Amino acid sequence: MDKIIVIDYGSQYNELIVRRLRDLNVESYLYPSTFSYEEALKIEDLKGIILSGGFDSVSNESLTFNEELLKLNVPILGICYGMELLSFFLKGNINKAKNSEYGRSLINVDNTSKIFKDLPENFNVWMSHSDSVSFNDDQLKDDLKIIAKNINEEVVGFSYKENMFGLLFHPEVNNTEFSKEIFLNFIDICGAKREYKMDTFIEDQIKEIKEKVGNKKVILGLSGGVDSAVCALLLHKAIGNQLIPVFIDHGLNRKFEKEELEERFINNLHLNVLIKDYSELFLSRLKGVTDPETKRKIIGKTFIDCFSEVANSLEGVEFLAQGTLYTDIVESGKGGISKVIKSHHNVGGLPKDLKFSLIEPLKTLYKDQVREVGTILGLDKEFLYRQPFPGPGLGIRVIGEITKEKLDILKDADYILREEVKKNNLTNDIWQYFTVLTNIKSVGVMGDNRTYSYALAIRCVTSIDGMTADFYRMNYEIIAKISSRIVNEVKGINRILYDVTSKPPSTIEYE
Ligand code: XMP
Repeated sequence: MDKIIVIDYGSQYNELIVRRLRDLNVESYLYPSTFSYEEALKIEDLKGIILSGGFDSVSNESLTFNEELLKLNVPILGICYGMELLSFFLKGNINKAKNSEYGRSLINVDNTSKIFKDLPENFNVWMSHSDSVSFNDDQLKDDLKIIAKNINEEVVGFSYKENMFGLLFHPEVNNTEFSKEIFLNFIDICGAKREYKMDTFIEDQIKEIKEKVGNKKVILGLSGGVDSAVCALLLHKAIGNQLIPVFIDHGLNRKFEKEELEERFINNLHLNVLIKDYSELFLSRLKGVTDPETKRKIIGKTFIDCFSEVANSLEGVEFLAQGTLYTDIVESGKGGISKVIKSHHNVGGLPKDLKFSLIEPLKTLYKDQVREVGTILGLDKEFLYRQPFPGPGLGIRVIGEITKEKLDILKDADYILREEVKKNNLTNDIWQYFTVLTNIKSVGVMGDNRTYSYALAIRCVTSIDGMTADFYRMNYEIIAKISSRIVNEVKGINRILYDVTSKPPSTIEYE
């Protein structure tokens, strides 16, 4: 399948370029700036290269353009820093700009250039640069043309032999007008066929899994989350009951989680899920433990022990399937330039010492593409768009020591919150919503009796990716209803607190 790849020079928008191409049905991946000609030769049907923006200045010469890539003879588009790299290669002048440009900027383009085909002469684009590019008059011969300028008559776009293009603005961000058309024009220039679609992806994966697995068995840890579920369905479609999805019940899941999992995966989707109840083991190992980090470690380790025990008890299993996503790979530094290394380890993570070969069929996909695959494979929308749930589960939402009694109180309260959020159609407005059983008991009065029970915190946040968050401004009437329902229906709680802190300074979870 035809591909256009992106070379990562560190811009915060680099993954957006990949997304843009994929959304326009062209297969695309991000590679680090050290990407070599030899590596490029191994990519089948490579039709074009995009050099991303970056945070550095070309004059620092810390990252360079690998000129050998020109031997591939495919069109190249340099964006922002990528344009500066190409200009540098063409012996243009790169200087500190008199006026750094950040944000909207009106440009004037030469729409006889193929990259601006069918576009108006003037439109707004998104800039983010502090260097300027210029060429001497004697360089501007037939092959090298200025094709875009800003209102100060500075160069913001050039073409070289109509096969190499530089754009100082960011066509990948939505604030740039005609961004889609610019990408479509580049795809046309590359002659790339737009064949990348999720159903073809599924067919290809099924074929690949069948070939790889043969008549062997595959084990998979079903965590209750979207990624492992979609991964399981894809494998099930390929190899049927040679797949053994295992659900380790650690007792730290939400109310009815296990029952819903049985209904969805066993009854409706006909997967042969092996459910193993280890909740007592988890509770016994957590007995008396109050330190948050120790709790997390015990939960993670116990999960691995249990999963290994199940895996080792099964005959003929040679493979372990995991729902790793493309973002997991990029974020751990294996895709483009290393960014944030994931700090959260999912409890559903891989037991390191298991001697299985890995199968990761989703590892080239982004989250929304995984949801698309899930939809095609029959998963319901409610499940695919459910709120995030941490690996250690309710274990980090019971402050202090975890006991069965506290867990039951928390599960009931959490269930009421979820019910009310759904009833009031708030699921799309709130990114994550849950309850936390604080370790504080306070005095209350119910009927004529004094009570001494737990205070429960309600945490509802809006966020894009969980890195930062704000508390959700919930309507007082709805909070009042939730509060009164929980206090009346859940024994053991006599006070409700609504959390009004953002992240930072707080975190979303309490432990
Ligand atoms: P914090 O509490 O760090 O949470 O603001 C940010 C997001 O990450 C989730 N979270 C976890 N997810 N394993 C996970 O899989 C974990 O150990 C973990 N801790 C926090 C949290 O629910 C929120 O969505």
